[in-house]
Amino acid sequence: MRVSNRSQSMIQPAIVKYNGLIKEIEKTGKKIYFLNLGQPDIPTPAAFMKAVNNIDDEVLMYVDSKGILPLREGIVKYFKNYAIDFGVDDILLTVGGSEAIWYAFMALCDPQDEIICTDPVYAIYKEVAKATNVTLVPMETYAENGFELPDINKIEKLITNKTKAFILNTPGNPTGRVYTKREMDDIANLAKKHNLFIISDEVYRDFIYDGEEFLSFAARKDVEDRVILIESTSKRFSACGARVGFLATKNKEAYEGLLKMAQTRLSVSYIDQVGAVELFKLDKNYLHNQLAEYEVRRDTICDELLKIDGVVLQKPKGAFHILVKLPIDDAEDFIQFLLNEFNYEGETVLITPGADFYFNESLSKNMVRISYVLKAEDLKRAALLLRIALDEYMKK
Ligand SMILES: Cc1ncc(COP(=O)(O)O)c(C=O)c1O
Repeated sequence: MRVSNRSQSMIQPAIVKYNGLIKEIEKTGKKIYFLNLGQPDIPTPAAFMKAVNNIDDEVLMYVDSKGILPLREGIVKYFKNYAIDFGVDDILLTVGGSEAIWYAFMALCDPQDEIICTDPVYAIYKEVAKATNVTLVPMETYAENGFELPDINKIEKLITNKTKAFILNTPGNPTGRVYTKREMDDIANLAKKHNLFIISDEVYRDFIYDGEEFLSFAARKDVEDRVILIESTSKRFSACGARVGFLATKNKEAYEGLLKMAQTRLSVSYIDQVGAVELFKLDKNYLHNQLAEYEVRRDTICDELLKIDGVVLQKPKGAFHILVKLPIDDAEDFIQFLLNEFNYEGETVLITPGADFYFNESLSKNMVRISYVLKAEDLKRAALLLRIALDEYMKK
């Protein structure tokens, strides 16, 4: 017996890669500051738990494959605050934004079809592409100019008769990049010219710093028939364990295709959806306060990291990840050192190797992703540990 080439070609995502080792290290009493995961420490709103605790249905039934109506209504209202006009039948609930990515790839592409993405890219796209036999075609972007998209002519050269879509993530994981009007115009114009979909992953929409306005592909009238939005409650409401995400599109044919995928799993957890209804009822202050907290975190981690000789980074404009260049040759080896050897006053720090996000290995060797999901004081301590660890590592 032999399992599929598809599953053999996939690798463990960063989120689970170090789990075994972490358990062993924690048994020794060493404390780890986790800057390797997009798992915020902010309490999930109490309204979620309250609603779940109040469920008194006698039977937990399957619910609508599209998602329960009060939740879709809440989502439609949330979008209105961003001047994005979706109806309840444009929204499709999924098991996190992660499931939404699978459905988008499967509903839009046949095997060997191509989707143009960035390099670096959110790592899960690479694995979903392998599993769905979709070819990702990367546009290289660079830390030096804040991961700006290439010139439109360069992007156009990547389009072939197999290209079905662009997938873009704004604000971006792992880069924190927020695409500008010019970059979005380029993508929209190419999509119209070559008749392509735009899969826009906007799970970090509410994390935009420095008072800047967020531009959503979903708010653009010129491409409203070709945008498939990937969304989540995980980061927005610090509810990663709720596993509530969704897709939104005005393209009816795409919606029908996505829905057929969703119907094979019958429905998303009713319990999680009941909790999520309350999240979308929270007043605007909730998101404003959260943004203010993350802005402090971003400033803290960037200021602290820039005190380290040889570190290259650009303050990100959004999300809560930074891709940082460290003065080392092999990020993966440095992370093994952090876990296995480094110990400062009983503590260490964990970050993610850039290689997880890159297609072009030569660009990733000295890059790491740092997620500023902890309180400012913990970030300061983690940055100090990183500074001391780099000193020790380079002396080795
Ligand atoms: C860019 C991006 N898209 C989608 C997701 C999926 O999140 P979830 O499945 O928790 O909704 C994540 C999670 O980290 C992400 O960073």
